[in-house]
This record gives sequence, structure tokens and C-alpha cells, in this order.
Amino acid sequence: MSNQKVNFKTERELQEAILREKARGTPDIEIGQKYGVTFGYIERLITRSKGLNISALKVSKKIKRLHPESFKEEQTTVWSFKQRGNWATHSGEYRGNWSPYIPRNVIFKYSKAGELVLDYFCGAGTTAVECKLLGRKCIALDINDKAIELAKKNVDFTIESQRSIFANEESQLKVYEPELKVGDARDLSFLKDNSIDLICAHPPYANIIHYTDSKEGDLSFFDIDDFLKEMSKVARESFRVLRPGRQCAILIGDTRRRKHVIPLGFKLISIYLNAGFKLRELVIKRQHNCKTTGFWYANSIKYNFLLLAHEYLPIFEKPKTHLPLSVRERGVDYGWVVPTLEKPPLKRKLDGLETTTVWIFPGKDFEERLNKNVIDRYSNGGGYSTITFVSHSKNEMDFTGRNTQKGKELLFIKSPFLSSNPSHSNVEKYLKETKEIVNQELPNISKGGFLVIQTQDVRIDGYVEPLAKRLVDMLTFDNLWLKEIVVVTQEWANSSALNSTEYLKIVHQYLLVYEVRK
Ligand SMILES: C[S@@+](CC[C@H](N)C(=O)[O-])C[C@H]1O[C@@H](n2cnc3c(N)ncnc32)[C@H](O)[C@@H]1O
Repeated sequence: MSNQKVNFKTERELQEAILREKARGTPDIEIGQKYGVTFGYIERLITRSKGLNISALKVSKKIKRLHPESFKEEQTTVWSFKQRGNWATHSGEYRGNWSPYIPRNVIFKYSKAGELVLDYFCGAGTTAVECKLLGRKCIALDINDKAIELAKKNVDFTIESQRSIFANEESQLKVYEPELKVGDARDLSFLKDNSIDLICAHPPYANIIHYTDSKEGDLSFFDIDDFLKEMSKVARESFRVLRPGRQCAILIGDTRRRKHVIPLGFKLISIYLNAGFKLRELVIKRQHNCKTTGFWYANSIKYNFLLLAHEYLPIFEKPKTHLPLSVRERGVDYGWVVPTLEKPPLKRKLDGLETTTVWIFPGKDFEERLNKNVIDRYSNGGGYSTITFVSHSKNEMDFTGRNTQKGKELLFIKSPFLSSNPSHSNVEKYLKETKEIVNQELPNISKGGFLVIQTQDVRIDGYVEPLAKRLVDMLTFDNLWLKEIVVVTQEWANSSALNSTEYLKIVHQYLLVYEVRK
């Protein structure tokens, strides 16, 4: 506590005054100004005194409508909900709860009416409320008894007659009351093997937000490495209880340390893959509370960092059986992948630079604007070169174009061949080749300069090959520091017009930005 503006004899008096303001519904910003306390101070005080991390003490549970006014199922890999959703008892009161549009989409896509959904990080019960509304059975656990109390209030509403809102489901749905209980996601021993139809959960992101006042077993108190170790217990239990052929969706975000990104999302994907899961989809969830103008714009350019504006929603699948490798390796072979050297065209002067980790450009200017942003931000006005992976039908490798000029500020590696549905062998070759290029070119990039790799996920035989993740796992050079993971996508004005298919359309790419350490 610092800079206190209203004087109190003791800190306790100050805290009581803040709690009274919260109960009256005064916004945090006003409380901060009046009492000279930070947002973090108010958050810790509430969590300590109420036993759970909530933003408001007074939330009306009066239901205006049971379902969103219009709901369109997501069809692509970029999910973006400008309004978080306030139908039924949903509200933003529980800090870090997820938008109900996420479980709604997951439940609808990967389960049928009457099936059993598990959420082992229940929080305020968003998934449980959605299960009740959509005619699914639900078991939801949370380590915090106070969160379970809140979730019980949130699922306590009446549904007179439950008609399915989805055309392909039976119109009359049964209402199942969710089973909510205190429990630990690492120990699901009360559940039988292969007994759950869908897992849909949202863990803490290591120790970014604390959900309890340091309750034993609360994973929001574990630092990254320990958090991942504990999550591997959760992943193993998830694999055990899920029925073969069914899905497990987990929302997770990255974090930052010393102005560099820690790829917590990719690390957690590894944990679930190691438990035996396959990656069916890798969805990008946009965050909309990011500031992109004024102060933020100036500082983003000055200190060269981007505001985190996306999270990952990997959708894992427990395979039905393990297929032999020869069956898995299908797809067209486009011949050898050949890196060629070229300068990307920069025809027009374009508007300002992007300031968050999600870059969205119109289709017609897409590559031009992407190149402009990369080069302006990361070449420091100095020399740069680009290596592009293209596919050739010729069975040969060509390295003659490699520019070994020393002292360049930026090396930009692009790989447009990935959009043409490459085979397993070409993907492996691309990864190996990229590592060799980075190895050889690294001494030619100035210290403090950048390596930027434009890449994308590809789908091979029904599963996603997460190439950005695989590159991040692979590029572990001592003098390379992962600075940003940027998601790039085109403006999809009409994505809801896409037909519903078995798989989501992959519409995003990544820029992996590495800084060459001084
Ligand atoms: C990101 S929140 C979930 C929010 C939830 N999706 C919602 O919409 O309200 C993570 C939750 O995990 C809970 N948690 C932390 N460690 C846990 C553990 N070991 N087992 C079960 N729940 C845990 C926290 O108490 C917190 O409520």
C-alpha cells in the first residue's frame, strides 16, 4: 500500500472502508484514486476476506434470457467474442472466468445431448451452466469450496421447457442438474476409466492470477515449471477417464518475463501430447480487453513489445486405437522444399504498426502489410534478408541464394509452401532445414537483432501438426531468446457463412520473433 490519500489510523480501517465501497459497487479505479491503493491491493484484499477472487460483491442474478440472442457455431481456428456473454447467470464477476461462448461451442461440437461433460477447474461454473442449458450432464470440481458455493448459486435457476437451439439435435431436451463438488483436478480417482464423453476446462495460467488465499493444492500458486509438473498429473488423469475417440479442450495463455514471452501455451500442449493425446484442433482465442492506442501505442513502439492479445484452445483427442505409421503417412508429396533468397516487395507506405500479438490484415494486402510490420519493427532500419521455403517438383536442394552478409539486423524466414497441404516427410524436412539455416545464419545477425519465422499449423490425416510449437521446442540456441509469438490472420468478414465441417478451417499463421542476445 502506498500513496494513501484518505488517512486511517490502522490498515484494518482502510481495508474495511474499501470493502464497504466494493459492497456499494464503486468501481476499482475510483477506490484506487480515493484511497491511494493499487488494483492488485484491492484484488488481494477481496481474495483474502471473501476466500475467492471476485471483481464485484454485488451481482444481480436476475435472468434476462437463457440463451444468447444469436449464436453461430465457430467454423475457423480464430475465435473472437467482442461481448463476453451475459445470458442466464453468466457475468464477469469471477476473475479470469472464461466467456460462455467457449464452452458453448466446445460442448455443441464435441458432445451430444445427455452425454457427460467434465470440468475440473469449475471456478464460477460457466461450463456447468452451459451443460444445464444444453441438456448435457456435468461434473465440475474446484479446489476452492468458496468457488463451488458461487457455482452452485449460478446453476440454481429453473428451465421451464428445454428446447434445443440446434437444428441437428432432438428438439426436446432433458434438464440435468450439474454435480458440483470440491476436488482436485490431479486426482480423479472417483471417476472410472473411459467414463467421460468430453472434458472442457480452463486452468490457472501458472501463478498469474491467484484464485484463493494460498489454499493447499491451488495450482495458481505454482511457478511455471512446478505448474507444468502438476498439470502432467491432470493430463494423465484426463487421458484415463476420457472415452477413446473423444475430446478434451483446455484454454491456456502465454505469460511474459523481462519483456520476453514464456510460451506456456505450447508447453502445456506438450504435457497433454505426452500423456497420449493427439491434437485435433489448435484454436486461437482473441482477447478484447487490450489497449492499442495512445499511451500503449507509443510505449509498444518505444520499448518494442506487443500486448498479449491471444490465448490458445488446444482440442485434444484420445485416439481410438494406435494406427501403424504406414497408414498415417499419406498426403501429396510436393517434392523437396527449397529455401530461396528474396526481398519481399514493399510497394506502398502503410499506416501505423501493430501493437498487440494479434495482427489482422485484409486479404488483398495481407503479405505486404505483414512484411511491412515485421521489417519496420524488427530491422531497426538496418539490413535484412529473407529466406523463403517454396516447393519444387525437382528432387534437389539449392542453397546458392543464401545471403551470408554479416551484421544484418533481421533474418526473416517465410514458408508459403505450408499452405499447400504438405506431407509428413516435407514437414520434417522443413523443420530440419530451418534448424540448419538458423545454425548457419545466426553469426551473421547483429547482437540485439532479430530472427523472425513465419509459419503455420498444418492438418495431416485428421490431426494438427502444430509447427509453431515444434519450432519453438526445437530452436533452443543459447543466444536466441523468444521475444514474441504473434498470430496473423486475414479479415474474415463472413466466417459464419462457411459450412459446418468435421474440422475447423485453419485461418491463422504465426510469427515467431527471436532476439539475438547481446
Ligand atoms: C481460470 S479459473 C476457472 C474459471 C472457470 N472456467 C469459470 O468460468 O469460472 C481456474 C480455477 O481452477 C481452480 N483450481 C486451482 N487449482 C486447482 C486444482 N488443483 N484442482 C481443481 N481446481 C483448481 C481455481 O480455484 C480456479 O477457480
